[in-house]
Amino acid sequence: MIEDIEISELRNLCQIVKEKYNYDFNNYAMSSFKRRVLRVLEIHKISSTLALIEKIKYDAAFFKVFLNEITVNVTEMFRDPSLWRDLRDKILPNLFSTHETIKIWHAGCSSGEEVYSMCILLKEMGLLHKVKIYATDIDEPILAKAKEGKYTIKNMIDVNEKNYIRLGGIQKLSDYYTETSGGFVKMNPSLVENVVYRSHDLVKSGVFNKFDLILCRNVLIYFNQQLQNDVFKMFHESLFNYSYFIIGSKETLIWSDVASKFIIVNSEEKVFKKVKE
Ligand SMILES: C[S@@+](CC[C@H](N)C(=O)[O-])C[C@H]1O[C@@H](n2cnc3c(N)ncnc32)[C@H](O)[C@@H]1O
Repeated sequence: MIEDIEISELRNLCQIVKEKYNYDFNNYAMSSFKRRVLRVLEIHKISSTLALIEKIKYDAAFFKVFLNEITVNVTEMFRDPSLWRDLRDKILPNLFSTHETIKIWHAGCSSGEEVYSMCILLKEMGLLHKVKIYATDIDEPILAKAKEGKYTIKNMIDVNEKNYIRLGGIQKLSDYYTETSGGFVKMNPSLVENVVYRSHDLVKSGVFNKFDLILCRNVLIYFNQQLQNDVFKMFHESLFNYSYFIIGSKETLIWSDVASKFIIVNSEEKVFKKVKE
């Protein structure tokens, strides 16, 4: 088993991936990228980084598997319940006090739990029909899972339902899904009628629309500061003035070039409001 990879080998890997498939991992945080590459080597019993590079070069199907394994897809419904409380009690009412309809972007939506959380919250507020949601991710297999809305019962009960109760949801979470065979549940498709799922790479794609609320949580943590800064600028441009931007609770933008164009409205849950173009 390989225990370490030279930085030069990681650079070579990134270069091949960029040349062949036009995905650029050069500005990902190299320590976590290295851990993920080591994991791929172990799972697929590949003997060296060089062998991995050769496989990626000539096997486009394997590259899809690699991309799926290199990205960290861990997510939950109502992850950080106090954020969802803030959305329900302050952020969304504030937006709807001045808007008839709003547009939301979940950037890095993974398998879609965050999107369902938003749709459930909006439904309980009677606002679901007034919202258009864009849900994007770089990883197409995970996006396919998001579209399918099929999750394990175990996760629904052990993780998602607990978060929903902590948030103070007004129904039972089970009202929003039906149990299917094999220990799975299928989310109610009517929840996501106004959701557009799209493959989108934050590294290479620029502004594609303007939003009233953007959530990009637990994604930028995998990027280095230079890339985070570029992506923060893109998000700033993608937001209307006086609209909201939410990142992960362990992330921050206060050091970035656009920091002075935002005010912080919830320092625990990293909710920012754009106040300057
Ligand atoms: C840990 S998940 C976060 C999911 C959800 N936002 C949450 O907080 O629970 C990170 C997601 O970011 C996606 N991602 C990584 N690099 C990306 C990129 N360059 N463009 C778009 N999405 C990316 C991954 O595929 C993964 O699904």
